[in-house]
Amino acid sequence: MSIRKKLIMSNIAMIVIPVILFVVAVLLIISLIFGGFTEFWGNGNSSGSDAVEQEFTELKKIASMSPHQLGGGTYLNESAHELENAETSLIVRKAGEIIYQSKNSDKISSNDLPAYGNDRFQRPVQWIDGRPILLRSYDFYFDDGAEGTVFLLQNADSMNHFGLFPILFGILLLILIGTNILLSYLMSRTILNPVNELTQASKRISEGDLNFEIKTKKKDELGELSLTFDQMRRKLKESINLQLQYEENRKELVANISHDLKTPITSIKGYVEGIQEGVANTPEKMDRYLNTIFTKAVDMDHLIDELSLYSKLDLNRLPYDFQDVDFRSFMEDLIEEVEFDLVQSGVGLAIEVDDTGSYHVLADSEKVKRVVMNILNNSLKYLDKEDKTIKIRLENTKEEVIVQIHDNGSGIPESALPFIFDRFYRSEPSRNTGTGGSGLGLAIAKRIIEDHGGEIWAESKSGKGTSIYFMIKKIQR
Ligand SMILES: Nc1ncnc2c1ncn2[C@@H]1O[C@H](COP(=O)(O)OP(=O)(O)O)[C@@H](O)[C@H]1O
Ligand SMILES: [Mg+2]
Repeated sequence: MSIRKKLIMSNIAMIVIPVILFVVAVLLIISLIFGGFTEFWGNGNSSGSDAVEQEFTELKKIASMSPHQLGGGTYLNESAHELENAETSLIVRKAGEIIYQSKNSDKISSNDLPAYGNDRFQRPVQWIDGRPILLRSYDFYFDDGAEGTVFLLQNADSMNHFGLFPILFGILLLILIGTNILLSYLMSRTILNPVNELTQASKRISEGDLNFEIKTKKKDELGELSLTFDQMRRKLKESINLQLQYEENRKELVANISHDLKTPITSIKGYVEGIQEGVANTPEKMDRYLNTIFTKAVDMDHLIDELSLYSKLDLNRLPYDFQDVDFRSFMEDLIEEVEFDLVQSGVGLAIEVDDTGSYHVLADSEKVKRVVMNILNNSLKYLDKEDKTIKIRLENTKEEVIVQIHDNGSGIPESALPFIFDRFYRSEPSRNTGTGGSGLGLAIAKRIIEDHGGEIWAESKSGKGTSIYFMIKKIQR
């Protein structure tokens, strides 16, 4: 239930519950007083009760012994006078007719009084003439056999006013306070508990602790807030972790770059020193030294190129120029360009194209060319067989163009395969053979293909050969 609904319900309950409880309490009290607790209520405040009781006993005696005295006359007048002090009226009824009535009860008629024969079965306090009356009655027979009843009507009004009002007020107050405390407790539990939890959580976050979970099963607004809060905590944690990862990567990058630049420079320095010290004393030696220096410088140039390209890609500083490219003719042009060099270095090149379907993709052809060149350069570098072949296969499915570049070179050990697309990764054998390279070629390729929304992956058998695949989504028409 939402907190809004809960608040509304609680406010309604705040009115309804006290009203119901109060009505129940009042009914209970009234039924208690009017149902038999008269003595209890009566004793305290009608000091004349004993006198009335005495008078009643007297009257009963007279009624049994000499009922004619109740027909009227001095006895009744005296008795009535006596009772007046205790706010009590005296009524005598004979055969259904009131034959005597003390002055203070002249509003009461015969109809208000219980019928003959009921003196044992009535509630002592009754509403008569709009007032609570403590009724005593005694049935007897007159000398002539007529049914007679003597009634004493003691006013119970005063004790109700003075006794009941403060009690009812007290009960109402208690009920109100009780309901209020209960509802406030229930409401504060539903609101304060989650708020406290959130406060606690914010404190922990501000202290830099993100390794906890804010759990909630609540479906209300605060439950939602807790969920969002936890989501925020998770996002924050992720982004901090990412930041740390970046920082780590950056340090690694700097270390790798310094190492990779240091190596060629050290050897260049060595060869230059050799020349200076006259170690290259023959023209052939001098030639070899200079050639090596040149190769190392070219390597470094290449490495710096790749580094700058990679860092530009990494920082998203290199804008892409995406265009509708027919990938089939793009690849055919590219192959034509490299074919001569490949054949020169004794590599057999085979091309296989799936003729069906279109090859239109959205691509930056300059950058995809870089991808293909990086893959082809690797193939060339690691071709170690007599019969060197590179096979290029073009294929298209309903939604994508897939390129496979296969070579029958050294292959990649299974343990190295998952890492070849990581930057600066070079498998151990290739480090040793001194084939040269930055370990950035495939990382650059992966970055470019992924920026095209495509995928790149490799299959390889150590010693047999390698296939690098990449996929680019076709333009859907
Ligand atoms: N065609 C291939 N044959 C064998 N090994 C390969 C091939 N392509 C890539 N590799 C392995 O993957 C590693 C990473 O390739 P790359 O990122 O291009 O770096 P680099 O070529 O500068 O070493 C290479 O060092 C090599 O071990
Ligand atoms: Mg390479």
